[in-house]
Amino acid sequence: MTIPISGARVLLTGASGGIGDAIARELHGRGATVVVSGRRAELLDALREELGPRIECAPADLAKAKEVDGLVAAAGAVDVLVANAGLPASGPYDGFTVDEIDRALMVNLRAPIQLTRALAPAMVGRGKGQLVYISSISGKIATSGASLYSATKFGLRGYAFGVGRDLTGSGVGASCVFPGFISDAGMFADTGLETPPGIGTSKPEEVVAAVVKAIERGPSEIDVAPAFVRASAKLSGIAPNLVAGISTRLGGEKFAGEFGKRQQDKQ
Ligand SMILES: NC(=O)c1ccc[n+]([C@@H]2O[C@H](COP(=O)([O-])OP(=O)(O)OC[C@H]3O[C@@H](n4cnc5c(N)ncnc54)[C@H](OP(=O)(O)O)[C@@H]3O)[C@@H](O)[C@H]2O)c1
Repeated sequence: MTIPISGARVLLTGASGGIGDAIARELHGRGATVVVSGRRAELLDALREELGPRIECAPADLAKAKEVDGLVAAAGAVDVLVANAGLPASGPYDGFTVDEIDRALMVNLRAPIQLTRALAPAMVGRGKGQLVYISSISGKIATSGASLYSATKFGLRGYAFGVGRDLTGSGVGASCVFPGFISDAGMFADTGLETPPGIGTSKPEEVVAAVVKAIERGPSEIDVAPAFVRASAKLSGIAPNLVAGISTRLGGEKFAGEFGKRQQDKQ
């Protein structure tokens, strides 16, 4: 099932972040009403003030199950869910407190599942809807220094695909988007780091284009990354040790350690 964006009601999580902000602007510009969520209410309010009445603010902390319920109530009958909120959860497996592990699982994985369970049945009742999940290339390639992040993003991939199968024939579709490193805005750009040699970056607009495609055309999976990374993601499905080894040789572990340090405030 595909959804015309103009006139659609969209719940977008992570709208106060780099990629979410770009998604909100594009969907609003195409005529959707966008319910924007995140913890930083002041950023959501600023978006509404700038873009106007088809932006509705629904602040929520997705690490708190009750606030996810509150978000469902505030969002009302949405045609599209874009589950974009995420935290980086980078660093070695023993580098997290138990609270940090819980928060990563809650925000990156549990909240999208909880939102889907709450919102999808009404979409099915209306015979139309689209669920869009923002995973990561780390949801296809697991490397050293990103085990917890990969656990959430591989999990989201499996969930999205399985939900898509559950909903076959209902008029409601599910799409999962897999960005590689994104320049200019968002959690990678915020670190000020450069990618390891040969990896490269994509632009926020490319993620936005993938979300638009997901809503309008409903493919189950879309990778957003340079060709080498997209090919590595495919190869990782059949030879994960080979791809992880290449990542190590390209300096992936050192990079992940530095990435984790610079993202400490977001864990
Ligand atoms: N940037 C990249 O290179 C890249 C690559 C692959 C995948 N991704 C994925 O793309 C998505 C967007 O990331 P981004 O790059 O835009 O990161 P970002 O700028 O750090 O934004 C993260 C968003 O998630 C929200 N969030 C974090 N913790 C939350 C919580 N407890 N409750 C509610 N919202 C919370 C943040 O809002 P508040 O802080 O206001 O709560 C913010 O809006 C994420 O799922 C990320 O994993 C990004």
